[in-house]
Amino acid sequence: MLSQQQLKQNAALKAVEYVLPLLTPETILGVGTGSTADLFIDALAPHQQRFRGAASSSERTSARLNALGIRVFDLNQVESMPVYVDGADEIDGRLNMIKGGGGALTREKIVASVAERFVCIVDDSKLVDRLGMFPLPVEVIPMALSSVARRLQQMGGQPRERADFITDNGCRILDVSGLSIEDPAKLESAINDIPGVVTCGLFAISGADVALVSGQNGVRELHRS
Ligand code: 5RP
Repeated sequence: MLSQQQLKQNAALKAVEYVLPLLTPETILGVGTGSTADLFIDALAPHQQRFRGAASSSERTSARLNALGIRVFDLNQVESMPVYVDGADEIDGRLNMIKGGGGALTREKIVASVAERFVCIVDDSKLVDRLGMFPLPVEVIPMALSSVARRLQQMGGQPRERADFITDNGCRILDVSGLSIEDPAKLESAINDIPGVVTCGLFAISGADVALVSGQNGVRELHRS
């Protein structure tokens, strides 16, 4: 029986196999944040001569890329990227996701928006029929924490401020449980529209294009429907 760590490792290795044919000496790759993304970075490092560098979704990921010798580019210097690779906290069969367990949701969404393809790498415990068991992370400007929390309560959620956590953007996170996520893209828009919200961790307006889902019998490739 493979552990969750081994399953994440297999997803990361499959992602390296997936990206290698897309690389040229000019390629900048988008790289996500989290334990699965870390495994991807480690597996990618031996191939660093085959591409130019990476655009990173967090200070944590930048530090790991730099430590392994992969050059990190400011996103403002990057015009296009063939692919962005990242994990998720939950993903459904249509490849809508909840992200932000690591608190990097805003930069993840920004870097992913520049890439042609989002490749999500997960172990199969993350694959769900309906999003919402994992509390939805919402990044909030500090002065708006209370007003945003009240609005999220009116939407049926129970927001809880993530303790002792400040995002790379100097903001705070509300983790919201109890939301009914029938239409992920509609809810994503509604939450993003609350004044003071930087972004919410629903990735549904633009979800993943490809999911590499690692299970006991291998890694399945799913495509967005
Ligand atoms: C970070 C994220 C991560 O992708 C998500 O939390 C999954 O992390 P892990 O690979 O450690 O399970 O969205 O903000």
